[in-house]
Amino acid sequence: MIRFHAVSKNYPNGTTAVDDLSLELAEGGITVLVGPSGCGKTTTLRMINRMVEPTAGTVSLRGRDIREIRAPELRRGIGYVIQHAGLFPHRTVLDNIATVPLLLGWNRKKARARAAELLELVGLPHEMGRRYPNQLSGGQQQRVGVARALGADPPVLLMDEPFSAVDPIVRTELQAEFVRLQKELHKTIVFVTHDIDEAIRLGDHIAVFRTGGRLAQFDTPERLLAHPADAFVAGFVGQDRGIRRLSFVKAAEVPLRDGPVLPATAPVERARAAREPWVLVIDDERRPLGWAAVPELPQNGTLADASLLPLGPTFSLVADSARAALDSALLSPSRLAVGVDTDGAVVGVADAYELSATTVAADAAETEANEDVEAAGDRAGAGSAGGGEG
Ligand SMILES: Nc1ncnc2c1ncn2[C@@H]1O[C@H](COP(=O)(O)OP(=O)(O)O)[C@@H](O)[C@H]1O
Ligand SMILES: [Mg+2]
Repeated sequence: MIRFHAVSKNYPNGTTAVDDLSLELAEGGITVLVGPSGCGKTTTLRMINRMVEPTAGTVSLRGRDIREIRAPELRRGIGYVIQHAGLFPHRTVLDNIATVPLLLGWNRKKARARAAELLELVGLPHEMGRRYPNQLSGGQQQRVGVARALGADPPVLLMDEPFSAVDPIVRTELQAEFVRLQKELHKTIVFVTHDIDEAIRLGDHIAVFRTGGRLAQFDTPERLLAHPADAFVAGFVGQDRGIRRLSFVKAAEVPLRDGPVLPATAPVERARAAREPWVLVIDDERRPLGWAAVPELPQNGTLADASLLPLGPTFSLVADSARAALDSALLSPSRLAVGVDTDGAVVGVADAYELSATTVAADAAETEANEDVEAAGDRAGAGSAGGGEG
């Protein structure tokens, strides 16, 4: 969809902002450009809508060299969102959103109807359209910025650190909202951030840049966490990548054991006979009640007579990732994660060591997939880009 071929940008003062970049961005996906400040992210982004012209190389859009497309025409198909939203302060929210449709020559009524539609799409109440930008919170302004960029329904959206200026809680909300919106819109999005966690949360693909405008790695978030191309990427991705990687494994892939799980009606002897230090006690609909420490069980009676330790979080086999399962294990008094189905009924348990088997399985599947790719020949732009060291 968007292709950089051997693209460099040098400034007359001797700065190399982008150095020999080759990259292919998939249609309908979110590609995140991430890296430390000054590594050329904004420059790369702006070369897509010709706000910056490369010194060397070619940028093409759907196979067409963008130098052949006049800048205004090109930009009609490319929405642009920046930090602080960049709204016009003297225009109402609705008029801000209607900017592009009006520029395209729509009549006022149609443009405002479209703006009202977009306001709703980004989750803002209708009456907010009459306000001015300074009467909105940072997060609300950012939503208006997104709505404005979507004005002419462009297939491509460029976003330069759009959520960086808002506080962490609002940022998390905006990210979630953005993911929801993209599921509806399927735009081709290029998203710049310096925050690797944001990159991993949002990106279908991530391009990690290093200082000097060099691409260090281009990969899926999963592969970036599992196989950073070099020490720079590993350092940038951060320390707990092994744990974060589990977010990309579905909880359904966690290997579960049936026991030790017993109903509250079971006699305590059965719990002792299980020869386990802990037993998970469930009700007659298999919902978990709590953990019984076997050495502390009463001499006789049923498990209903035992005092139970609280469960801690369970994990859903349908909705959660293996990371939630690990959390469940680490916070459980027994150190066993409790997996439940949609009705909250216990399906099985697993310890942290067993959970790690999910990434072992993922590695094996990946090795197999890589072998297939290699056999199919090395397609341009796929896999990791050259680190460029040495
Ligand atoms: N107009 C310019 N003239 C000279 N140097 C520039 C210009 N614009 C950007 N740069 C330099 O190019 C490098 C990359 O900048 P930029 O793409 O804005 O980085 P990022 O967005 O990753 O922080 C930086 O060293 C920056 O100072
Ligand atoms: Mg920047």
